[in-house]
Amino acid sequence: MKQMPTHKKNRPSSKKKAIILNNVKVADGYFKLSLDAPWMAQARPGQFMQVKIGDDFKTLLRKPFGFHRIIKSGDRKLVEILYKVIGPGTEALSKKNSRGSLDIIGPLGNGFDVSTAKTRRQATHILVAGGIGVAPLVALAETLAPKGKVYALIGASTRSHILCEKEFKDCGAETLVTTEDGSKGKKGLITDCLKALLSTMNHQLSTIYACGPKAMLKEVSRLSKKKGSPCQILLEEYMACGVGVCLGCAVMTKEGYKMVCEDGPVFEASEVIWA
Ligand SMILES: Cc1cc2nc3c(=O)[nH]c(=O)nc-3n(C[C@H](O)[C@H](O)[C@H](O)COP(=O)(O)OP(=O)(O)OC[C@H]3O[C@@H](n4cnc5c(N)ncnc54)[C@H](O)[C@@H]3O)c2cc1C
Ligand code: FES
Repeated sequence: MKQMPTHKKNRPSSKKKAIILNNVKVADGYFKLSLDAPWMAQARPGQFMQVKIGDDFKTLLRKPFGFHRIIKSGDRKLVEILYKVIGPGTEALSKKNSRGSLDIIGPLGNGFDVSTAKTRRQATHILVAGGIGVAPLVALAETLAPKGKVYALIGASTRSHILCEKEFKDCGAETLVTTEDGSKGKKGLITDCLKALLSTMNHQLSTIYACGPKAMLKEVSRLSKKKGSPCQILLEEYMACGVGVCLGCAVMTKEGYKMVCEDGPVFEASEVIWA
């Protein structure tokens, strides 16, 4: 199976102030932040930025966020983050006003490898999102859409946590939804949906890309291995330093421990050893 490309190390990325264009609530507990940061528009889907949110003890450490959308149209160059409020950092971020600024570092990390997509036009790309794991997959869908058929599989616990359906449809992706309580789409787990979809197609021509909770990623990895489909997973491991110093984001791989911040956050699923 193809190896991920050698990763660019994180340290040289730029630290600059980005202007907040918008910071809006898109669902209960979920916000979308648009930033005027032209130097970030070169980012690839799956890369991330480290955001300095505040100066007090609880928000001092920079927080990592993936690129939800990377918009380059004419003179317009902006990036968007879609985030879930889960603690003091994201809570403080949700209070930031437009026209304020944010100190950000990036783009960081390797991002998804879409190089094979350029040559395999008849390939099918299956994006699997669990909960807020949907955030970086929209930018990926927008990149892959001109290169072939894209499926977006979105799973969440309940209807109000299903995000980005419209964004995926707007870029031509066929969108399938599951909720654990059955309030929208099929009742069940998104991995059941993946299993059913894989049984209908040529696995060799399908590439899977996934982001979401660890249990979901573990099952996606198992299914991809069973079917022989290449699979890339984005690990949103808890980070402290973000630059390979604290070892707080280590994951076990077949080659030993790797750092999500420096070696990832995207890994070949077959590379990761699950606990
Ligand atoms: C590469 C990468 C990309 C990310 N992209 C996004 C994104 O696009 N949108 C988004 O909403 N979030 C994303 N995250 C997660 C985001 O960084 C955290 O939600 C954020 O740092 C939480 O900060 P906080 O101060 O609000 O909460 P904290 O006080 O830091 O955390 C609150 C609780 O959540 C737990 N927690 C924090 N971060 C994580 C994590 N990564 N995984 C599991 N548990 C965690 C903590 O242990 C604690 O129990 C990403 C993380 C990484 C590593
Ligand atoms: S976050 Fe410190 S080593 Fe990755």
